[in-house]
Amino acid sequence: MSDVTLNFVADIAQQAGHIIADLRDRLDISFKGDTELVTQADIAADTAIRQRIQEAFPAHSILSEELAPDADTNAEHLWVIDPIDGTVNYAHQHPQVAVSIAYYERGEARLAVVFNPFLHETFSAEAGHGAWLNGQPIRCSETRDLRRAIVATGFPYHKNTVPLLMKRVQNVLSECADIRRLGSAALDICWVACGRLDAYYETVKPWDFAAAQLIAREAGARFGHFTPVPAGKNPQLWGEDILLANRALYDALQQLLNKD
Ligand code: IPD
Ligand code: CA
Ligand code: CA
Repeated sequence: MSDVTLNFVADIAQQAGHIIADLRDRLDISFKGDTELVTQADIAADTAIRQRIQEAFPAHSILSEELAPDADTNAEHLWVIDPIDGTVNYAHQHPQVAVSIAYYERGEARLAVVFNPFLHETFSAEAGHGAWLNGQPIRCSETRDLRRAIVATGFPYHKNTVPLLMKRVQNVLSECADIRRLGSAALDICWVACGRLDAYYETVKPWDFAAAQLIAREAGARFGHFTPVPAGKNPQLWGEDILLANRALYDALQQLLNKD
């Protein structure tokens, strides 16, 4: 294992979180394409995180939403960063916002931090050693009955898959207790990790879930995909149709999401 520590990852996530919190009162909003909102804070946080990593680990590769979304993911040492997950929430003063940072070694997530600067919550995990919320160990829920399950999901900025997404919502809502759309994939998954939610599914980008999937797995949840991962793709970076749930609910939800 390289000499990256969880303390270092948490420190850069918290530094970026403070930048985001400080900038919220003087937001400069623009759009990527037609619909996807971005602020100067997304860029400022991405830049600050990148600087810290490059100073400490100049040979490491960085995949990040704003500054390097197409970086090669096959590097031996890879950082996967979403400087603000929940940008729409952020721009509308909703508190469900996080900085997400994962450190991968040879294709496997090793260290992860998801920091919400507005609720002062730091979710973290180290592969093989557990997952924590503000330093306290966390576990996923023990809900066994679909009818008691609260399931989170999200919807992409583009609208061409709405019919398919509605069919899945209908299937889930018909069998489960309720659905949430909270606006931050990383936090949705961390909330599965600490038992505030029973499950989460969506199609997202690698930076949305790279850190949180390790946190959820270390907290006892199962991470997978409800449609096949193409041969040769790394499941820990493949964001199509991901599903996280406690072990008792996973199979039933996987079936439900594939039901006609
Ligand atoms: C978004 C959030 C949202 C999810 C979208 C993501 P962003 O990330 O995670 O919950 O539904 O698919 O793009 O744009 O706020 O970084
Ligand atoms: Ca995101
Ligand atoms: Ca983002």
